[in-house]
Amino acid sequence: MHDQWIKRDVKRVWHGFTQMSVFEEMSPIVVQAAEGPYLIDVDDKKYLDAISSLWVTTIGHNNNEINEAISIQVNKVCHSTLLGNTNTAIIELSEALTEIVPVVDPHFLYASDGAASVEQALKIAFQYWLNIGISQRSTFLTLTSGYHGDTIGSLSLGDSGFGTSIFDPLKFNTIRTPGYSSENWLYRAILELEANYNSLAAVVIEPLVQGASGMYIADPLQITELVKVAQDLGIIVIADEVATGFGRTGSYFASDLCNIKPDIICLGKGLTAGYLPMSVTVVSNRIYEAFLGKDLSQKTFYHGHSFSGNPVCAAAAKKHIEILQRDKIVESVPSKARFLKNELDRKIKKLTEVSEIRQIGLMVGVELKLKGEPGLAGRKVCAECVKRGVLMRPLGDVVVLMPHLNFTQEHISKMVSVLAQSISKVF
Ligand SMILES: Cc1ncc(COP(=O)(O)O)c(C=O)c1O
Repeated sequence: MHDQWIKRDVKRVWHGFTQMSVFEEMSPIVVQAAEGPYLIDVDDKKYLDAISSLWVTTIGHNNNEINEAISIQVNKVCHSTLLGNTNTAIIELSEALTEIVPVVDPHFLYASDGAASVEQALKIAFQYWLNIGISQRSTFLTLTSGYHGDTIGSLSLGDSGFGTSIFDPLKFNTIRTPGYSSENWLYRAILELEANYNSLAAVVIEPLVQGASGMYIADPLQITELVKVAQDLGIIVIADEVATGFGRTGSYFASDLCNIKPDIICLGKGLTAGYLPMSVTVVSNRIYEAFLGKDLSQKTFYHGHSFSGNPVCAAAAKKHIEILQRDKIVESVPSKARFLKNELDRKIKKLTEVSEIRQIGLMVGVELKLKGEPGLAGRKVCAECVKRGVLMRPLGDVVVLMPHLNFTQEHISKMVSVLAQSISKVF
């Protein structure tokens, strides 16, 4: 079955971040179903989803309660626009999110992908200053190794990586200071904030962990300090929690661990438990109020997407929050993270082919020593994992482990053992 499906796929489907000429050789799996921690392929083989389907799945696949919430909403209405109108599902979701997001008196602007939520955030920050009569605050402070998505705006805030530097001529400039892997990143960022606050619209960070560049982790107190300096200077703080939101770091949001209240937070990926595409830009009341004014005036935020506030996505997201709260799932993450750390210490740390393990909560990057062309070792190790029934995908030579929040100890153990076997096999 597998080969036939792959043949049909390569004839018509174009996969992102994938060289299609070698797609067939990269041991792609063809998923036809899923259950809990497993994805099931067309030959009924099960794969442990160790990357949470690209960091989105939080409480497992095919959860009855989420499926039911989706189904109930589908039978009411699948979509109606949020431009100038509203729907009950999005109102209920916004009220539920209000209880958990670390933003003061929050307001919610919805979109479908993480990149779109970042795009909205940067446009909101830019227009905020114009709306309050200040025209020169239009640049952004961003970090080396940051990643915020692939639209031109979010790409501009991010540091070029994964071959995206080809788009550099399309990007706008930002003031860029070193990322979390640099010892003096905080000092350098503060220097630039202080030197440029008159021209800065916002500082954009991935709080606590720069995920996509390879899981580089900052001390929470450093993030607290950066945000304090920026907010004291009146600079808007945009926290991109697309990857860290909804429990991955051991708290609902990384901002909670850093004890910060960003002015704007971007959420996506795990918002709907990873079931449906929905993202949101959350802004504090101070920002929101700057957009209030006369009808048809320039104060309005002239931005919106066709599927913004989709009620089916909203129903899934609301049920997801209910389950997280009822079953205290986020509260269980720190002990799972400790178990995962022990497993990594026992089975991976000793391997001479591993140069570093970086972990925060249930987000892990295992950096491999270079073997041949950069990226090749990561690719080969993950292919071996897939052969052994564990789905992994590397970031260059960093193997990412991103278990669902409700993986059992047995699942975590298997994931780490298979990684150890695969590293040994490849090297
Ligand atoms: C921190 C961060 N921001 C934004 C994005 C982009 O999200 P999406 O792929 O949903 O556009 C990602 C994706 O990995 C991310 O990690």
